[in-house]
Parts: sequence; C-alpha cells; structure tokens
Amino acid sequence: MSDISTPFQAPIGTHDVLGPRSGQWENLIATFAQFAYRYGFSLAITPMFEDVGVFNRGIGENSEVAKKEMYVFADRGERVYALRPEGTASVVRAFVQHQPTTPWKAWYVTPAFRYERPQAGRYRQHHQLGVEVLGTDDPALDVEVIALAWRFYEAIGLRSVRLLINSMGHDECRGAYVELLRSHLELHASSLCDEHRKVWDENPLRVLDCKKDACIDVTFNGPMLPDHLCDDCREHFDAVTRGLRSLGIVAELHPRLVRGFDYYTRTTFEFVADALDGAQNAIGGGGRYDKLAEQLGGKAAGGIGFGSGIERLLLTRAAENEDPLNFINRTLDAFVVDTTGEDVATVLVDELRSAGIACDRAYDGRSMKSQMKVADKSGARFALLVGPQELGAGEVTIRDLRSDNFEQAQQKAARNDIVTAIANLLTK
Ligand code: HAM
Repeated sequence: MSDISTPFQAPIGTHDVLGPRSGQWENLIATFAQFAYRYGFSLAITPMFEDVGVFNRGIGENSEVAKKEMYVFADRGERVYALRPEGTASVVRAFVQHQPTTPWKAWYVTPAFRYERPQAGRYRQHHQLGVEVLGTDDPALDVEVIALAWRFYEAIGLRSVRLLINSMGHDECRGAYVELLRSHLELHASSLCDEHRKVWDENPLRVLDCKKDACIDVTFNGPMLPDHLCDDCREHFDAVTRGLRSLGIVAELHPRLVRGFDYYTRTTFEFVADALDGAQNAIGGGGRYDKLAEQLGGKAAGGIGFGSGIERLLLTRAAENEDPLNFINRTLDAFVVDTTGEDVATVLVDELRSAGIACDRAYDGRSMKSQMKVADKSGARFALLVGPQELGAGEVTIRDLRSDNFEQAQQKAARNDIVTAIANLLTK
C-alpha cells in the first residue's frame, strides 16, 4: 500500500497529456476527423473492453498481443473481459452485432492497452486514430484507405514517411505457402533466434516478422509470400499497387510484412517514419481481414482498415523539427485584469465568451501586478484592464501583450463597445 505522503504517479508505461501539449492532440484528431468525413466515414464509439473472446478469436489466441500483452480481467459478475489492445476487432464486433448497410465506413480515435516493455514510442496505453470499411473486397477500397492515411500524413506535414506493402493471400494460397516456409524453417531451425528456435513450428509466419538478424538471415533465402499467391489474390494485389501508382503514392513491396495479428488476409501495409528510431518507427499499419466478420459470428464480409499511433505521429513531427501543429487556434484572445474589487470581470468575460471570444481572468482578488503576470503567462493576445479609474470613466484599457512598444501597445475603448473593439483588433 502506498504511503499517504507519497503522491501517486500515472501507471508505468502511461502518460498524462496536458495543455498546452494537448492542443497538438486536438489538432491531430480534428484533422483526422475532417479527413475521415471527407472520405465518407462516420465516427464509431465502442466499449473500451470486450468479451476476451472478441480479441482471442479476432487477433488470434497465439498472437504475441493476445498471449503476452492483453489486460484481461474478470468483473464482479465473473465475466472475463479484456481492455481493447487495438481498434479493429471491436469495430468488427459492432458491425456483426448491428448489421449496418454496406459498405460500412467507420473511423475511431481510441486508447489501446498492451502490456509492453515501455520505452520511447512504446507505451502500455497508447492512442490510435483509425478507420475500418466492411462489406466489400473491392481493391479500390484498399487504395482509398491507404490514400486516406497517406494524404493525412501529408496534411500534418510529415516528410519522412514510407509505405511498405505486401499481400498475405487468402486462406488457401497462404496455407500452401506456410507449408513451404515450414519445411524451410525445419531445415534451418538451429540458426533461428533464441525465441523462435523453440516456437517456430507454432506459427511459422511469426518468424518472418522477427527483427533479429538470425531470423532475417534464415528467411532471407526462403520462400516469399508474394511469389506464391493464387491468381485471384495476385490480381487483387496488382489492382491495389496499380491504383496506388495512379495516385502517385509510392509503395515499396516488403515480402516479410506479415503484421502481428492473425486476422489479416491479402493486402497488408505499414507506414514507417525514417525520422524515428528503427524499433518504433511504424507510425501506422493495417490491411484486409476478409474472414474476421465470420470469425466473430457474422456473415462473410470483406474488410480493410488501418490504425495510426498518435504518440508516434507527434514524435515524428518533433523528430523532423516541425513547429507544433496549429491548424486550430487554442490560444486565448483576451485576459481580463480587474482591480475594481467588484464583479466587473465576471460580467465582462461572460459577454466576450458569448460573442465567441476566448478569454479568461484572474481570481482570488490578486494585485494588478500579479494579475498581469498571469495574463502574460496565459498566452492571451490582449489584456483588458479595468481599475477604479476605468470603471468611473466607463472604459476598458486594452493592452497588446505581444507588442514591445508600450505606447502602441495600449489603447482605450468604451466599456459598451469592448466586444466590437476586440473583435476588430483580432482580425488585424
Ligand atoms: P498495429 O500495427 O498493432 O495495428 O498498431 C497501429 C499503430 O499503433 C502502430 O503503427 C503504431 O503507430 C501504434 N502503436 C501500436 N502499439 C503501440 C505502443 N505500444 N505504443 C505506441 N504506439 C503503438 C493495429 O492495431 C490494427 N488494429 C491496425 C488495423 C486497422 N488493421 C486493420 N485495421
């Protein structure tokens, strides 16, 4: 039990996002929402926890995330739930449950929980922006979903992003490929990394995903998935890469890209930012999951989507030395400094706020000097000063807090005209 004199801290691997940094988050989320609506998506909000089966069946019981990283708990009614480790399975569960008209396009912003070893860019609670489309396997949608992500990264000013793409085929062609891979791994099992030497047989595809040199060396000369696609899957993949080329989006074929979840079929892709450290450089990833709706008890329905980590997007901008995002202004327009000892500030801020002007004020009857300090710190553009003198004259002194020239920085306005005066000054 913690000592009452020791303040609590946020849990390991989690972080608080507070102002003014949270303004970056608002900008990012609002921009993504705008993109999603522009592409015909509507917001989906699903519970943060689901029956553990949604994820075990969805992302695969044997996936690293389900086996080692999920936060699983029994509630007071002894139902076994898991905190969402990712967004897709929940959205597909909602699709199966509500059977909306297809194609169904949903976007989301959500925390995701994974018991990982925390480090820069890897957290136990991270946050994702994502989209999912269900009800069609048209390759035009693969192109559209990838284009949405690509254009979004462009819009937020990222410059070091590369798109890696692969096709996992469907059950049959992938099944045949896995057997070829299995034979190859069996021959070279003793050369695999410590972990995969023991478990390669459980899911040979995971070895392709391993970042250790030993596994990369073994698989480098082995069979590669794209060379073993059936005609339908090959055609689908060709249509996707052709579509991306027609939009001028450069995709690098990455035959080892199998991604960490079992639900993927056909197109898989990942966006990496070269400005980030190699181990945590994936800023987004996704793919098709044409069997997932059935695996969760629904009718057959093709699906595709992607998720992008908010923390990593912002880390990329910082690593690329970009200014903070400021599409949406989150700074105060005005700060009221009231030394009348009356309720002037209460009425003035109400009037300004009702007119759409962002403003704040000081509290606790502080001195003029102390209120001015708070006004300066607040980042507001103007301080509105009302003392006994202004009160008597029916005026307000307006001081431009960004100007160094004291003469020009200060002017008076009639109390009754203050809203118009500030609105005019803000347009200059
Ligand atoms: P994912 O690749 O596991 O895919 O996660 C998507 C993105 O979330 C990653 O590219 C990364 O930016 C971020 N991310 C993942 N784990 C962490 C972490 N521990 N700390 C910080 N950021 C992290 C999915 O989750 C799939 N649901 C994507 C998808 C959507 N596939 C189809 N539709």
